[in-house]
Amino acid sequence: MARSQRKSGSRGSSRSGGKRARRWNASRIGMVLAGVVAVVAVLGVPTYRWSWAREEANPLARGMELLGEQGCVACHTGISGSWRWRADGAAPVSVEMIRDAVLNGRPASPEFPGAMPPMGGRLDVGEWRALVLAVGVLEGLVGVPEDPELASGYDVAVQMGCFGCHGRLGAGGVPNPGSLEGRIPGWLGGSFRKVLTVDGRLREVILEGSRQRRVPVPGVPGSLLSMPAYGERLDSVEVEILVRYLRWLHENPPSLET
Ligand code: HEC
Ligand code: HEC
Repeated sequence: MARSQRKSGSRGSSRSGGKRARRWNASRIGMVLAGVVAVVAVLGVPTYRWSWAREEANPLARGMELLGEQGCVACHTGISGSWRWRADGAAPVSVEMIRDAVLNGRPASPEFPGAMPPMGGRLDVGEWRALVLAVGVLEGLVGVPEDPELASGYDVAVQMGCFGCHGRLGAGGVPNPGSLEGRIPGWLGGSFRKVLTVDGRLREVILEGSRQRRVPVPGVPGSLLSMPAYGERLDSVEVEILVRYLRWLHENPPSLET
């Protein structure tokens, strides 16, 4: 009797011990999984964003950033936020003039808060050239294609408001909260290159639009802004010239040499 009790007792305890072990294993796996998700969220998302942003980087996007970082906005944007380069309202007529202003500065002028500081000694060559490029693009002196068909592709992009989301000449998009990348992709870097690797994908995105849904990591609930579908707004000829223009732009990114 005592023996059988002991036996059954020991059997019972080993069974519940096995359950405990299984439960413990299960909860340990759960903890490990939660840990992996947390590590992916804490390190993976910022790391992904960092390497994505590196692949997206280009001189024009840098120049646009520098217009803010170097205080150009302080003197050259009015109350409406649009750019104004001279008191008489005229625009710079050449890239050479922009280069001269950026490198050597300009004396104070009526309606401007002060003299323009020379940037030549303050910025390295890559940076001041990026600034000249950005002003040249804003003024339409750089980056507008001469080929008539490509130029009409550019016109379609302007009319459809593509640059508002994807950046001037596709240099890089505006912030897109809730998306994995944190920004709308541009057309000059790695993200667009991937689109080109899938046959017909570029046309498909333009016709049908696209939206990034929830990504299964914390803090990435799905993008606030989405790519509108242009299938109903553009006819097939417009779509073709737009596709041609985008491909050309990606292969010939705006630069001071062209
Ligand atoms: C403290 C004010 C101030 C700041 C800051 C400033 N500028 Fe200017 N900028 C001026 C003045 C003044 C002029 C001359 C305006 C005129 O001639 O009517 C000028 C002229 C220009 C012109 C026109 C040149 C031409 O001859 O047509 C360009 C382009 C320009 N600035 C670019 C920039 C850029 C790029 C930055 C930032 C790196 C910048 N400016 C920062 C005051 C400023
Ligand atoms: C309201 C903002 C907005 C406008 C306007 C817009 N897009 Fe987009 N576009 C997006 C967003 C957001 C994405 C990313 C979609 C996603 O992640 O699925 C995108 C994606 C794309 C892509 C794929 C890029 C990539 O790297 O994956 C292309 C190409 C594109 N858009 C072209 C255009 C063209 C051409 C126009 C104008 C006819 C345009 N877009 C207008 C927001 C916009």
